[in-house]
Amino acid sequence: MPSLNLQCSSSSASKLPVPFFGTALVVLLSCASLASSCTEQEKSSLIDFRDGLSQEGNGGLNMSWANSTDCCQWEGVNCGNGGVVTEVLLPSKGLKGRIPPSLSNLTGLLHLNLSCNSLYGSLPAELVFSSSITILDVSFNHLSGPLQEHQSPISGLPLKVLNISSNFFTGQLPSTTLQVMNNLVALNASNNSFTGPLPSSICINAPSLAMLNLCLNDFSGTISPEFGNCSKLTVLKAGRNNLTGGLPHEMFNATSLEHLSFPNNNLQGALDGSSLVKLSNLIFLDLGSNGLEGEMPDSIGQLGRLEELHLDNNLMIGELPSALSNCRSLKYITLRNNSFVGDLSRVNFTQMDLRTADFSLNKFSGRIPESIYACSNLIALRLAYNNFQGQFSPRIANLRSLSFLSVANNSFTDITDALQNLNRCKNLTSLLIGSNFKGETIPQNAAIDGFQNLRVLTIDTCPLVGTIPLWLSKLTKLEILDLSYNHLTGTIPSWINRLELLFFLDISSNRLTGDIPPELMEMPMLQSDKNAAKLDMKFLELPVFWTQSRQYRLLNAFPNVLNLCNNSLTGIIPQGIGQLKVLNVLNFSTNSLSGEIPPQICNLTNLQTLDLSNNQLTGELPSALRNLHFLSWFNVSNNDLEGPVPSGGQFNTFTNSSYIGNSKLCGPMLSVHCGSLEAPSASMKRRHKTLLAVVFGVIFGGLAALSLLACFLIARLVYDDHTENLVPLHRR
Ligand SMILES: *[C@@H]1O[C@H](CO)[C@@H](O)[C@H](O)[C@H]1NC(C)=O
Ligand SMILES: *[C@@H]1O[C@H](CO)[C@@H](O)[C@H](O)[C@H]1NC(C)=O
Ligand SMILES: *[C@@H]1O[C@H](CO)[C@@H](O)[C@H](O)[C@H]1NC(C)=O
Ligand SMILES: *[C@@H]1O[C@H](CO)[C@@H](O)[C@H](O)[C@H]1NC(C)=O
Ligand SMILES: *[C@@H]1O[C@H](CO)[C@@H](O)[C@H](O)[C@H]1NC(C)=O
Ligand SMILES: *[C@@H]1O[C@H](CO)[C@@H](O)[C@H](O)[C@H]1NC(C)=O
Ligand SMILES: *[C@@H]1O[C@H](CO)[C@@H](O)[C@H](O)[C@H]1NC(C)=O
Ligand SMILES: *[C@@H]1O[C@H](CO)[C@@H](O)[C@H](O)[C@H]1NC(C)=O
Ligand SMILES: *[C@@H]1O[C@H](CO)[C@@H](O)[C@H](O)[C@H]1NC(C)=O
Ligand SMILES: *[C@@H]1O[C@H](CO)[C@@H](O)[C@H](O)[C@H]1NC(C)=O
Ligand SMILES: *[C@@H]1O[C@H](CO)[C@@H](O)[C@H](O)[C@H]1NC(C)=O
Ligand SMILES: *[C@@H]1O[C@H](CO)[C@@H](O)[C@H](O)[C@H]1NC(C)=O
Repeated sequence: MPSLNLQCSSSSASKLPVPFFGTALVVLLSCASLASSCTEQEKSSLIDFRDGLSQEGNGGLNMSWANSTDCCQWEGVNCGNGGVVTEVLLPSKGLKGRIPPSLSNLTGLLHLNLSCNSLYGSLPAELVFSSSITILDVSFNHLSGPLQEHQSPISGLPLKVLNISSNFFTGQLPSTTLQVMNNLVALNASNNSFTGPLPSSICINAPSLAMLNLCLNDFSGTISPEFGNCSKLTVLKAGRNNLTGGLPHEMFNATSLEHLSFPNNNLQGALDGSSLVKLSNLIFLDLGSNGLEGEMPDSIGQLGRLEELHLDNNLMIGELPSALSNCRSLKYITLRNNSFVGDLSRVNFTQMDLRTADFSLNKFSGRIPESIYACSNLIALRLAYNNFQGQFSPRIANLRSLSFLSVANNSFTDITDALQNLNRCKNLTSLLIGSNFKGETIPQNAAIDGFQNLRVLTIDTCPLVGTIPLWLSKLTKLEILDLSYNHLTGTIPSWINRLELLFFLDISSNRLTGDIPPELMEMPMLQSDKNAAKLDMKFLELPVFWTQSRQYRLLNAFPNVLNLCNNSLTGIIPQGIGQLKVLNVLNFSTNSLSGEIPPQICNLTNLQTLDLSNNQLTGELPSALRNLHFLSWFNVSNNDLEGPVPSGGQFNTFTNSSYIGNSKLCGPMLSVHCGSLEAPSASMKRRHKTLLAVVFGVIFGGLAALSLLACFLIARLVYDDHTENLVPLHRR
């Protein structure tokens, strides 16, 4: 299967020393030639396994596992004293087939690793309840069905490590199964479809349990107090299940815990301070995306080893405790999307070695805490969607590693001062500062320099006055530029094609005038896919969000966009438009463009969105538009077009709403059929418009101006008020 996941492909690096492994075997063999070879009984168990594999999925075992040779020499088979097979290690061998119960006839087998293959069917009970196996790893296969229950009253199985993660197991984790695994140290059942309650009594039976991973399943119910018995447990992960209720006090008796994570469940209640403080070994705490309420307890400050704190997407309230300042090991904190209030400066960040901090979507107020400027290793900071105000300190230049900064949607003032301070953060690649600086003038002065590494710049929705400034032309690494929803005047600058990496330009909803410059048709990134190779493939330090659940870490996941909608542009659509071959979204709507639609537009075969509505375009629609096979949004309404509308392909999916307000257009979905001369009555037209407005009004919650809707619907970086941040294409 080509779609082997990360874990598997990285672990297949262990295939690398195969020649070495081979020679090692030979050496081993020559030294150990006195050791007896494996028994016929063992050989036949292995051959039974080999022969159960499919032709194309035998990993070459049909060759290397030859009946005529000693099975202790076979690839992936290791023997102990007396030729007893002790290890069968066949991860990432491309094996396909069922696992036969006969493997349990290897009575000296200690370690069975079949991970990262394509084995299917059930996991034989004989292996799960083997009286010899201590390590069993069948992760990353296609095994299914419920895990076998144990019937006979044995106990004390030697099994220490059981990894059944990333399969298709269903049903409950039966307590009768776990009851007999008294020596279990690590159980990894993540990424299956297990249901029912968490196996909470597991530590009563297996007092040495250190690692329990149950995430990515369908476990439900509450977290049982019995987890308090897990005195040796260091890792407990149960994220992405359907757990409810609170965190029981007793659970905090598991004081060895270093890693505790329950994200993406339905947990409720408050974090109890007196309980939390018992987990003094905690390094990683993730309770994000639950329904937790209440304040952050003071005692969090006593978790001196805490490096990562994820409490994002909850319902937490109140001010942050200043005791948080004592979490000196803290490197990563996200409190995104809660209802925290007050001055963030209550926390003194000086002693922390913060790398990533996300306080967005809360109700924090006041200025940016001075102490955060001491975190010189800070890489990503998101303060967006709060009530922060004031200006940036010149000390921000101390944040030499800062690469991602989003402060969008606050009440910061003095954009000139802000840019002059921020441009001293030489490593900034993403700067999102829109919805601030209300009514200020965008600075034009050449004093603004720096930002050499910027890849994303969004300064939308302020609104700013002035013209598109020349200093932007120096940001030669820019890939995404959003200046939409301002009051910018003047023309689209002709230097725009100097931004060689720019593939997402949104200058919609401004007051720009003049013609569409020919240089705009020469933007390298929009002309050819080849230029995409020049893009930096580095992951963003923080994801940019689409909706609450969809997020991007790679910029090139964004579409190629040219959005000039809702300005006062005049003149024609240049014929050069045909050069922008890799454009996905083209929106020229709501301007005063005239002339005909150039047929070259039909060459933009990657277009998904084409909106030319609300202009004064005349002439016929090019019939070759039907070549645009990926088009899912098309709008030429409210122009003065004539003749038949295109048919075939995608065009059979567009309704009359794509065409209304062009009384001379005809087509099967329009009131004017081609060949008929009857014009639609004025009242009819009005009714269509009203209907459209109502439909859109319902969907988008009362946006008044119909003309703005087009801009809004079509790809732009929308700051979604529930999620913040870059929202390409349509909102969900
Ligand atoms: C099984 O093999 C894979 C690939 O080499 C390895 O990553 C994994 O840790 C092994 N499992 C155990 C339990 O050792
Ligand atoms: C495994 O052992 C069982 C019972 O001991 C026997 O019936 C079976 O034939 C053996 N299978 C193989 C493949 O050796
Ligand atoms: C082993 O399997 C391969 C296919 O994976 C096949 O081409 C080959 O003929 C088989 N060899 C034997 C000896 O069965
Ligand atoms: C392996 O070889 C032995 C004798 O050398 C024979 O008895 C046995 O049937 C063979 N097994 C298989 C599976 O071919
Ligand atoms: C399976 O889980 C065990 C225990 O956590 C771990 O040691 C092993 O590396 C995992 N296997 C893979 C392939 O990741
Ligand atoms: C659980 O197994 C997965 C492989 O499926 C591995 O990536 C992960 O590291 C394991 N978890 C732990 C805690 O060992
Ligand atoms: C979950 O398991 C499936 C099937 O083995 C695998 O393709 C996928 O990568 C796994 N997901 C994670 C997050 O490990
Ligand atoms: C989660 O559990 C609740 C009841 O506790 C149930 O109504 C809901 O359907 C479950 N959701 C999923 C995705 O299983
Ligand atoms: C938790 O530990 C305390 C002592 O630290 C003990 O008094 C209490 O009974 C324990 N609770 C549980 C449920 O084990
Ligand atoms: C923050 O802590 C540092 C060192 O502990 C101290 O020097 C500084 O005065 C504190 N700042 C504030 C605002 O309390
Ligand atoms: C700035 O970014 C570059 C490239 O990502 C990196 O190598 C360098 O270490 C960063 N500088 C600092 C001070 O973090
Ligand atoms: C589309 O492109 C082709 C080749 O680049 C060119 O020959 C053709 O004239 C173009 N069509 C239009 C309508 O511009």
